Order: sequence, then structure tokens, then C-alpha cells
Amino acid sequence: MKLHVPKTTMVITFIVVAILATQFIRCKTTKADTRNSMDRSGVPGDFNDDIEKNMKEMFDKGKAVFRFDTFGDEVFWTDQLQIHKAIADEKHGGIGKGLSPKQALDAGLKVDLAVLPKFLRRKIKEGKFLDDPWVTLQLIKINAVLGVVGKFDGKGNLKSIGLTCASCHSTVSDPSGIGKRLDGWPNRDLNVGAIISMAPNLDPIAKLLNADQATVKKVLASWGPGKFDAELNLDGKAFRPDGKPAATLIPEAFGQAGHNLHTWTGGWGNVTYWNAYVANLELSGQGQFYDPRLMNKEQYPVAAKAGFGNKRSDSDHVSSKLAALQFYQLAIPPPKPPKGSFDEVASDRGQQLFSGKAKCATCHVPPLFAEPGWNTHKPEEICIDDFQANRSPEKTYVTQGLRGLWAHAKGGFYHDGRFATMLDVVNHYNTCKKLNLTEAEKNDLVEYLKSL
Ligand code: HEC
Ligand code: HEC
Repeated sequence: MKLHVPKTTMVITFIVVAILATQFIRCKTTKADTRNSMDRSGVPGDFNDDIEKNMKEMFDKGKAVFRFDTFGDEVFWTDQLQIHKAIADEKHGGIGKGLSPKQALDAGLKVDLAVLPKFLRRKIKEGKFLDDPWVTLQLIKINAVLGVVGKFDGKGNLKSIGLTCASCHSTVSDPSGIGKRLDGWPNRDLNVGAIISMAPNLDPIAKLLNADQATVKKVLASWGPGKFDAELNLDGKAFRPDGKPAATLIPEAFGQAGHNLHTWTGGWGNVTYWNAYVANLELSGQGQFYDPRLMNKEQYPVAAKAGFGNKRSDSDHVSSKLAALQFYQLAIPPPKPPKGSFDEVASDRGQQLFSGKAKCATCHVPPLFAEPGWNTHKPEEICIDDFQANRSPEKTYVTQGLRGLWAHAKGGFYHDGRFATMLDVVNHYNTCKKLNLTEAEKNDLVEYLKSL
């Protein structure tokens, strides 16, 4: 059979096929080009895919660890301090009236609104149920209280309490204390001292510090909201020579990628060092930790006696989580300042001053805002006392990254919050470094700090 196709139809078909074919080829090459421009190995698939898969897994695991992992620290908070008995009322595994949601919020604990069932959400927003300790237990049960993990028996009795990183290093978006979870934002409302003080048995802490329980209570009461003493367990120094508490502000855990040293004081290590330190020696989780510097009896008498510099444990709930935890923490960006929260024109002038006349950028190197390299300084370089610095292995202070500064203004600035406002900080440097800044220039610098 002979096929009769008119010439014009053939031409049209040819053109259409040609167009489709070029489109197809173009589409393919664009895809390949974008891939190549990012990944110059030219070999898509296989190991490249392994890396991407790993990224996703590490991120998800790290987030879960940061929020919900207690590292087995129930052995301390529950078995020893018995803090669960102060949270539950006597009908649900506790010894007293129990902790009402209102008391929990007053102590600075935060509630994740997103996981609350609708009816509870509504009632709590209306201020109802806030006096009922049973509601606190329900909130703990659904993992709604940031950083507090509870286990219950079949009858609803609270059996154990453990704490996670999120208790101190997360907060929520609403001043009521019930809102959206903000990982990495320091909880400057959390009264850690008051919370630990609720525990029926402070004897383990008293024994460690070689003090009586009344003294421990006095120390815990001295901290106040937003502060904790992360080295008390090493050197037993609870107060400074001037009588003020030795506690420091809870720092932000965002914007830390690219910084070598973390924490306020120098020489401890980077994020993963400190994570291992906290999980093992602050939260008292079950794990392994090694740092021979903590065996120095002169500087760290408490740690040396307790053997903290070489902690071994048969069941290790820490080591397998450190990689993912670090990965997640480094992924937390500094939050951007809200629109209209600073004067843009003044901030532009402030930026010039920051790198120019005010010499801030010699240490706070943009865009990291800390030095690439060994980011520490002697106390005299920033004109402050050496008490806190001397508690660190290197006896220095760490240059703090300034991005997202606006998000942790509560409680003040510098390790102990000694400067209430950004202007106070600028005034301090003005005197310390003899900068001769005018009032207008100081104001510009403050607007710039607010913009970071
Ligand atoms: C009881 C409150 C509290 C808990 C819980 C806590 N931290 Fe911290 N964290 C602090 C304080 C206070 C500091 C500052 C210590 C210092 O510099 O001396 C700090 C510092 C840090 C830093 C350094 C941040 C910076 O900007 O310098 C990191 C990282 C960190 N913590 C991670 C963690 C991780 C991970 C966990 C969970 C394993 C955790 N923290 C649990 C209070 C806490
Ligand atoms: C010699 C190095 C150095 C210079 C110069 C310097 N800083 Fe700092 N900055 C530090 C160190 C170190 C800290 C941490 C102090 C502490 O831990 O108490 C710090 C802390 C800060 C903080 C508090 C951060 C926080 O989280 O509380 C602010 C704000 C700040 N600097 C702004 C500035 C400004 C503005 C300038 C310029 C006028 C400046 N710095 C110049 C080293 C420096």
C-alpha cells in the first residue's frame, strides 16, 4: 500500500518535530549545565548523591537531638535530684502540689504552640487551665515544654524527667511563653537556678561542690533569669571577688558556622567540644569525655577530684549523636532583624565607622564578626576584669559574632550582661580604645549593630 501524504503536511510535521527536539535538547543541557556549575566534578550521581543524602540525614537527626535528646541524663535529674517529684503532684508520682503551667512559665519554661491540640491551645490562650499542675504533665507528655522530656507509666504517673539542649538554647516567638519554637535563640527568661532549686534532693550537687545544701540554694538563687554557671562544676567558684554571681548569660546557638572558638571564654574548643562537655558534664548525660586540662588541680579542683577530665561510661548515649548535633547547630542562621527596627541610613554610616574610625572590624571581622583563626583576646584588650577569663583554659575572652545581636538583647551584653544596652557597649569601647566618637557617631554604630 502506498502512503499519500501531502507535501505541506510533511513540511509542517518536520518543523514541529524539529522544534520539539531542540527544546528537548536545550532542556537537557540546561539541567546538566546548572548541575555542572555547582558540581564541577562532572560526574553526577553516586557519591554526590551520598553526600546529599548524608546532609539530609545529619540535619534531621541533629535537630531531633538538639530538641529532644536527654543523653540519658535522667540518671542525674531523676534518680539523683528527683526533680520529677517536684513537677508532678502527689497523685501523679510527685510529693507536693506539683508545678502549674503558670509556675512553669514564670520560671521561664517555654511551650511549643504548634504541638498543642486545638482545645488546649484555645483554653491556655484564654488563661484557663494555667493553675492546674495536671496540664503541665499533659504538656510534657506531648513534648510541648521546650527542653523537658518526661516518661510516664500506664496510669499517667510521671516516672522520669530529663533535660535537653533546647531548655536553654531555644525559646518561642511570643512573650507569653507559648508560641512558635525558635531553635538557637537563647532563653533569657529561663531561671535555671530556680528550677534546679525545686529538686527535692540537692545533695549530689552539694557533695560535688563540698558545700551544704543551704549554700547550694544560695548559689542557685544568685543566678537569676537567663544565666547559668557552666564552670561551677569545674572550679567551684560561685561568686566573683566583688560578690556578684559567677554565672554568665546563656549565649545564642545560632550563627556559629565559621567561628573557631565558641563560649564566652577562651580555649575550650569549638561547637562539638562544647556539646560533648555539656552533654556529659552539665546535663550529666551518660557518655564519654576526655580533656586532660580538667585534671589540673589548681585551676579545676572540683573537676580533678570528680575525674571529669576522663569520664568513661559503659552505656554511651552521647558520642553517637555529636556529629549530627554539630551539623544541625551550624545550620542555624542568625535571625534577620524585623523590618523597621533600625534606621537604615544611620546604619550605613555606622557600617563605615565599624570598619573605620571605631576599629571594631579589627576583631569582629565581617561577615563572620569574629576573627578567622584564633578568636580570643586578653581581658586588658577589651578593658574588663579577668575573673571569668581566668576560669578558662586560655584565660581569655572569645570574640563574639554579632549577627542576630538584636535577638538576645534581653539580659544585656558581654558575658555577664554588664552592659545593659548597645549604646553602653559602644561607650565602653569609646573609652577603652580612646575612639573620640561623637554622640551622632555612637548612635550610627548602634543602628548598625541593630541591623546585623
Ligand atoms: C542550663 C542551661 C544550658 C543547657 C541545658 C545547655 N547550655 Fe549550652 N550554654 C549555656 C551557657 C550558660 C553557655 C555559656 C558558657 C560559657 O561560655 O561559659 C553555653 C554555651 C554553649 C555554646 C557556645 C555558644 C556561644 O555562642 O558561645 C554552645 C555551642 C552550646 N552551649 C551548646 C549546647 C548544647 C549542644 C547543649 C545540649 C547538649 C547545651 N548547650 C545545653 C547554657 C546551657
Ligand atoms: C580587641 C578585640 C575587639 C574589638 C576591637 C572590639 N571587640 Fe567587641 N568583643 C570582643 C570580645 C572579646 C567580646 C566578648 C566580651 C565578653 O565575653 O564579655 C566582645 C563583645 C562584643 C559585644 C557583645 C556581644 C554579646 O553577645 O554580648 C558587642 C555588642 C561588641 N563586642 C561590639 C563591638 C563594637 C561595636 C566594637 C567597636 C566599637 C567592638 N566590639 C570592638 C572583642 C573586640
